[in-house]
Amino acid sequence: NKIVLAYSGGLDTSVILTWLKETYDADIITFTADIGQKDELDGLEEKALKTGATKAYIDDLQEEFARDFIYPMFQAGALYEGQYLLGTSIARPLIAKRMVEIARAEGAFAIAHGATGKGNDQVRFELTAAALAPELEVIAPWRLEEFREEFPGRAEMIAYAEKHGIPVTASAAKPYSTDRNLLHISFESGMLEDPWFDPSADSNKDMYVLSVAPEDAPDQPEYLELDFEQGNCVGLNGKRMEPLQVMDALNEIGGKHGIGRVDMVENRFVGMKSRGVYETPGGTILFTAHRKMESLTMDREVMTLRDSLITRYSNLVYNGFWFAPERLALQALVTESQKNVTGTVRVKLYKGNVIGAGVKSPFSLYNPNIATMEADPTQAYNQGDAAGFIRLNALRLKVASGVEQNAQVK
Ligand code: ARG
Ligand code: SIN
Repeated sequence: NKIVLAYSGGLDTSVILTWLKETYDADIITFTADIGQKDELDGLEEKALKTGATKAYIDDLQEEFARDFIYPMFQAGALYEGQYLLGTSIARPLIAKRMVEIARAEGAFAIAHGATGKGNDQVRFELTAAALAPELEVIAPWRLEEFREEFPGRAEMIAYAEKHGIPVTASAAKPYSTDRNLLHISFESGMLEDPWFDPSADSNKDMYVLSVAPEDAPDQPEYLELDFEQGNCVGLNGKRMEPLQVMDALNEIGGKHGIGRVDMVENRFVGMKSRGVYETPGGTILFTAHRKMESLTMDREVMTLRDSLITRYSNLVYNGFWFAPERLALQALVTESQKNVTGTVRVKLYKGNVIGAGVKSPFSLYNPNIATMEADPTQAYNQGDAAGFIRLNALRLKVASGVEQNAQVK
């Protein structure tokens, strides 16, 4: 009788661990994915076992996260509601994928998670489980009335933890919820629930983890070169790197320059609006540089087509459909669109800004002879042709205008 629980070591999942064990009379196997949350993982195995887990998995999935999740999503240029780089959204399918693998290997009948019934994460976990291991049951305690009645607030959870000898850490005292990984850290709830609250105020400086405020960033700009191959960043400043190293290095330098802070009200899949604050330093540099690489190398119509699908693709990631056939189909189109997105982008980082500072590529579609305002030695473009081009394009506008004028006369 085994249950695999997605475990962070925080107050919620610690209480859930003990509660599941008692309620289902089951062996609880905890699973924690190391996807770059850094010091949050210290002492976690010991804590899980102390809290009553039979076994505690902590798997380092950082490389897979960077290579097979973050990179393909950045090739697509995904951005949710114009601002959110999907840092939490893209991590959930990977966590759930590994969790169902463990559940199968351990012969567990169910997986459990501590996501609430009001959020996106429950959907992402469970759609992934449905796609990859439909035979597994899912237990979401926050959706069960008896669980919510037992724990109407944090005070009851802390009391329960004390009674059951569950170690409660200082982070349980933070007045907001965070989620950190290799791509970002998110902040929600608490004082942030008031959309008029200003998270960038000096008095709120301590909340941020990955970046300094733009006004505190160095007064000297810093240049950075990103090498791309087929839409993937494969090196920085001429040094070849794996996706994980790239993300770590970009986070470091981006955070130093105050890059990638976002404060927004977003639409959750379940229908409500929610206020979120994000720090995505490395992702923001990568996103901007990738677009610049495309500007030089991507065909106009391919770009129009791919861009028209970005909203669809981003919504799929946000809503938890990573392992859905339509996401895979879109990904195939994205991969094809990236085949010449190769070269080097230079950016200047300065007080929260990623400023384009040059781009070059062996596959450049930019032809200075054609674009020049000077005389074109190759005669590839005949300015006289433009007159007919405009005349034909104008034809229907003239006809429509004539109809308008006639109607006004009558
Ligand atoms: N609103 C963001 C999203 O839906 C972040 C969610 C954060 N999740 C969390 N468990 N704290 O992707
Ligand atoms: C939660 O509700 O568990 C966190 C926020 C979200 O999933 O959107």
